[in-house]
Amino acid sequence: MDDEAVNGRAWARYGQHHLDRGTRLPEVERLDWGFWGTGPGAEVLGDLPGKRVLDIGSGTGRYPAYLALAHGAVVDAVEASPTQHLRATARYSDVPGVSFVRADAVDFLRREAAPVYDIAYSVHAFGYIDPHQLLDALACRVREGGSLVFSVLHTNSSGVGPEVTVAPREEILPLAGGGELTVRMWVLSPLLWEDLLVEAGFLVERITVLRAPERSNPVTCTLIVARRRHS
Ligand SMILES: C[S@@+](CC[C@H](N)C(=O)[O-])C[C@H]1O[C@@H](n2cnc3c(N)ncnc32)[C@H](O)[C@@H]1O
Repeated sequence: MDDEAVNGRAWARYGQHHLDRGTRLPEVERLDWGFWGTGPGAEVLGDLPGKRVLDIGSGTGRYPAYLALAHGAVVDAVEASPTQHLRATARYSDVPGVSFVRADAVDFLRREAAPVYDIAYSVHAFGYIDPHQLLDALACRVREGGSLVFSVLHTNSSGVGPEVTVAPREEILPLAGGGELTVRMWVLSPLLWEDLLVEAGFLVERITVLRAPERSNPVTCTLIVARRRHS
């Protein structure tokens, strides 16, 4: 099975698992680029009221709903998994300022009618998508001078750090209540992300490694703030 199919199947099962359990996540009060509620929040996206924003891999929809309600952004929330999309629409479909789209992010961005955004962002979804394809598709859908901000895994729970070549590797997606799914993720070094972004027409403004508050937790994430170059 190719990487896309493995990840598609895993995220469909993940969403179904939570639909079956009736999981109800608490409402978010900030944008969390890591996993710990610490570090920067929505301010790294810049000015948000009235801005046209794209969320890539929006999952349960909590962040697009938050950005629309608390910051006045106009958000397209694109999510490939039908079950994750269902979780989002069941809860947030009536939030003004958010449109939920069930589509693969690259396919969506390549649609002729896809809009051009002021800001594109993603919280922990980039790692599941081939970065060459995603950044290439994004380059025409973020306006010149517009922002691209995303967080990705840097070091996993076994302490394995990022790769220095552009290739996916197997990672474990744990399920609440027990069990796990295998996914294929592009866990890339910050330098490699920077090379890919520059190649695709973006300038990197800031790269921050986010750490867990407790020293015993090896998991770290990378937060990347980039801007589409003017031609
Ligand atoms: C770790 S979850 C993050 C969800 C959300 N951003 C959040 O932080 O709550 C990753 C999400 O990316 C979605 N995803 C993975 N590959 C995708 C693709 N090619 N296009 C759109 N969404 C995708 C998954 O289905 C999953 O819901």
